[in-house]
Amino acid sequence: MNAREIHLAARPQGLPGPDAFRLAETEIPDPAPGQVLIRNLYMSLDPGMLLLIGAYPDIPMPPYEVGAPLHGDAIGEVVASGEPSVKEGSVVLHRLGWREYALADATQVRQVDPHAYPSVSTYLAFGLVAYAGLTAVAGLRPGETVFVSSAAGATGSMVGQLARLLGAGRVVGSAGTPEKVAHLTGRLGFDAAFDRHDGPIADRLREAAPGGVDVYFDNVGGEQLRAAIEVMNPHGRIALCGALARQSAGGEPDPGPGDPMRLIGKRLTLRGFTMSDHLDLAPEFGRRLRQWLADGSLVREETVIDGLENAPQALLDLVRGAYTGKVVVRLTR
Ligand SMILES: NC(=O)c1ccc[n+]([C@@H]2O[C@H](COP(=O)([O-])OP(=O)(O)OC[C@H]3O[C@@H](n4cnc5c(N)ncnc54)[C@H](OP(=O)(O)O)[C@@H]3O)[C@@H](O)[C@H]2O)c1
Repeated sequence: MNAREIHLAARPQGLPGPDAFRLAETEIPDPAPGQVLIRNLYMSLDPGMLLLIGAYPDIPMPPYEVGAPLHGDAIGEVVASGEPSVKEGSVVLHRLGWREYALADATQVRQVDPHAYPSVSTYLAFGLVAYAGLTAVAGLRPGETVFVSSAAGATGSMVGQLARLLGAGRVVGSAGTPEKVAHLTGRLGFDAAFDRHDGPIADRLREAAPGGVDVYFDNVGGEQLRAAIEVMNPHGRIALCGALARQSAGGEPDPGPGDPMRLIGKRLTLRGFTMSDHLDLAPEFGRRLRQWLADGSLVREETVIDGLENAPQALLDLVRGAYTGKVVVRLTR
């Protein structure tokens, strides 16, 4: 039997088009000792993948290889195992997305409880990034004002809701359409939100956060980062999570946070982080997430795209703002 995977067909300049991707068929291999064969159930789409498709010398991860499958977070079921500690039928998280079947070294997979959430795709949501950014990175304190950019996206929709649950006094978000803004202040319970296309961002942010911002969770960089710095309160903390401005501009460099005098004068902290720095928080976060989902205090925002063949277009649509919440691709046929 054959399985399908998506290869990088060619390295584009700037944002890729559909011809950067190629749907390839491969034979399903048998696992060698120490390996597992995984039938992938869902894979994650992340705008960060766009920077691995293009050719950018200053990206801190190796780019995807032309002619080879792309990769990224995925969850699947072990269908054959060459490693006694990972039984057939186990559900595992791993990094070999963009393919229907993955052959992985058993040390590269993490077994998870398939019954912990209503759908195993929940493991692909960026909740841990949001939780770690607010707690370990920004040190959110009760009563503080939190601003998050791309607030209707995968990470942002978790940040806003978690900030509230962690005791923030005011939660403010930015998004790209009036419908998303209404969604933030409606279903997701933000106190205020604004459209990033609606005039100078610093002015909109001052209106939305009249008492200033204590914690900025930055998914974007660019003008939103500079605007947040203008509106931050003294001793404010900025958790640098993402670079959507750069990712959506096909990798064009971002001029960065601007005049350092403002950072110094306000004693601001800007701290970059990645989820992998904070995996120690996963058990604590998992427990709290299950509780918040069970008692209805957190809304799980997810868009499911069906079929590997639709994943490239969905990635392009994702960064153009077509979806809200986490976007995953269902890989089972
Ligand atoms: N540090 C880490 O470990 C880590 C982990 C996960 C993700 N990330 C990064 O965090 C960021 C958010 O990830 P995500 O998966 O949650 O993505 P996301 O927010 O769901 O991304 C899609 C959204 O990006 C927004 N967008 C596109 N271009 C933009 C621009 N120029 N300015 C502002 N917003 C723009 C659009 O929203 P609007 O229509 O609302 O503008 C779109 O709906 C990404 O940069 C990702 O690579 C980092």
